[in-house]
Amino acid sequence: MSKVILVTGGQANQGLGYEFVKQLAEHGHTVYLGARDIDKGNDAVSKIGLDNVHALKIEVTNGDSVNESVQSFKTKESHLDMLINNAGIAGRKNNGCDVGEMQDIFNTNVFGVARVTNAYLDLLKKSEKPTIWNIGSMIGAIGLITNVNAPAREWLPYSASKTAMHVYTIMLSQQHPDIKINVVNPGYCGTNLNEFAGTMKPCESVKSIVDELILSDNTETGKFYTFTGEEISW
Ligand SMILES: NC(=O)c1ccc[n+]([C@@H]2O[C@H](COP(=O)([O-])OP(=O)(O)OC[C@H]3O[C@@H](n4cnc5c(N)ncnc54)[C@H](OP(=O)(O)O)[C@@H]3O)[C@@H](O)[C@H]2O)c1
Repeated sequence: MSKVILVTGGQANQGLGYEFVKQLAEHGHTVYLGARDIDKGNDAVSKIGLDNVHALKIEVTNGDSVNESVQSFKTKESHLDMLINNAGIAGRKNNGCDVGEMQDIFNTNVFGVARVTNAYLDLLKKSEKPTIWNIGSMIGAIGLITNVNAPAREWLPYSASKTAMHVYTIMLSQQHPDIKINVVNPGYCGTNLNEFAGTMKPCESVKSIVDELILSDNTETGKFYTFTGEEISW
């Protein structure tokens, strides 16, 4: 059955969000490509070239922008089946713990996710099978980062933001048992976020996530999954 899906951070036409939009639209779903720069969003939509993809202006750090996106969305749709909270920033590598930069990272990766989720909750509750996928990270996994040799220490604020988002996801899933809410780790993908140092192509990671998780009925709620569909420890 065709779903109505919103993906935040879809405008970077090399990134994971763009790939989620493209691949889910190719499966026939109606997909809203969230973009903080609507011109770039429209360019990404044109590049995908499918009638079932629409650009939606949304800056996740700004409550007014998020609320305006909901009003705009409501002129076209009566419900939302799936929200993919993908928009994220990493900050600078080895930036220690600059509080200003840390606040910016948390404002996007944690509060941005909560802001968008809160704003779309009523629309999600109108879906027969509402689902939220939050894009997390292995370097937000406590079991990994307690190893002092783990790469996470080079990305302290980012890593801490993903851990916070993971905990938020667990608790949100407990508060809303009627919505399936999970985190997926996409693996280390070459994107703008890591200056293309990642070893996997975003299209490969997203294909696996789409096939093994997003379009699968086998997932539970309040869980952390690898991009290949295995449940992993928080
Ligand atoms: N790449 C990896 O190896 C990796 C690994 C684990 C997790 N992740 C997660 O995967 C997600 C996607 O990252 P990516 O690697 O695809 O990075 P990316 O290519 O930099 O894409 C991130 C997207 O988020 C958008 N964005 C950033 N801040 C935003 C805001 N305040 N409001 C709206 N949109 C915003 C960016 O917009 P602009 O184009 O305007 O910058 C961009 O479109 C992130 O949550 C990231 O933490 C990535």
